[in-house]
Amino acid sequence: MEVVILPAARDIAAVAADAVVALLARTPEAVLGLATGSSPLGVYAELSRRHAAGDVSFARARGFLLDEYVGLPADHPQRYRSVIRRDLEEQVDFAPGAVQAPDGRAHDLPGACAAYEAAIAAAGGVDLQLLGIGTDGHVAFNEPGSSLTSRTRIKTLTAQTRADNARFFDSPEDVPRHVLTQGLGTISAARHLVLVATGAAKAPAVRAMAEGPVSASCPASVLQLHPHVSVLVDEAAAGELALSAYYRETYSAKPAWQGL
Ligand code: GLP
Repeated sequence: MEVVILPAARDIAAVAADAVVALLARTPEAVLGLATGSSPLGVYAELSRRHAAGDVSFARARGFLLDEYVGLPADHPQRYRSVIRRDLEEQVDFAPGAVQAPDGRAHDLPGACAAYEAAIAAAGGVDLQLLGIGTDGHVAFNEPGSSLTSRTRIKTLTAQTRADNARFFDSPEDVPRHVLTQGLGTISAARHLVLVATGAAKAPAVRAMAEGPVSASCPASVLQLHPHVSVLVDEAAAGELALSAYYRETYSAKPAWQGL
């Protein structure tokens, strides 16, 4: 795991966007794993800007969302499918149908989860997976206690996650209790994981993820078992890291050719 401490959210967005642009230059048909929440918004804005400048095309790329609420109406603005359409797809040049999400409105939810796993496999797996982290250490919607080898399935949100996400809804009670989410095993199968986190509220979760024990109590700690993980954090989110001096030294001496 490489931890990169950067001054501000715009620096994180630039470094993450560099990795996506380099991947698409190497492999135009790459498969991107797309996270929602506030954390990746700067990355999507930067990718949109670079697309407008003619620096990157998504025309042959495909995308898979991490997760989706169960039961929100098709036109609900907070459906993750709608959020990604608004924040990324409509800003760049994905082909129609190139981005998929778990179907949180399916009649047969286990069937929808199995179909989603099959679709990711049929696409050849995810090349670069963007991730955020919840204040309770969740990634996607894998709450504490999630199996470290889990696949896409239905989960129940914790009260903490529902409270954290209430800002996107008219009232806290409107936050759905159930979600479909890629499992920790699904996420771990992606070839490169890029996790972004900003702000002091994320500092305890970032420390538990990077420096705590590998444990279902902090689902994001499963990233310690992955061979290629880039954790991009600002100073505030890095505030509780014990090895921050080492991470800074490593990144400042990193060979330019290496990329993330
Ligand atoms: C949400 C999403 C996660 C996200 C996390 C943090 O509930 N399901 O994918 O990483 O919680 O969200 P934010 O980036 O808004 O802090």
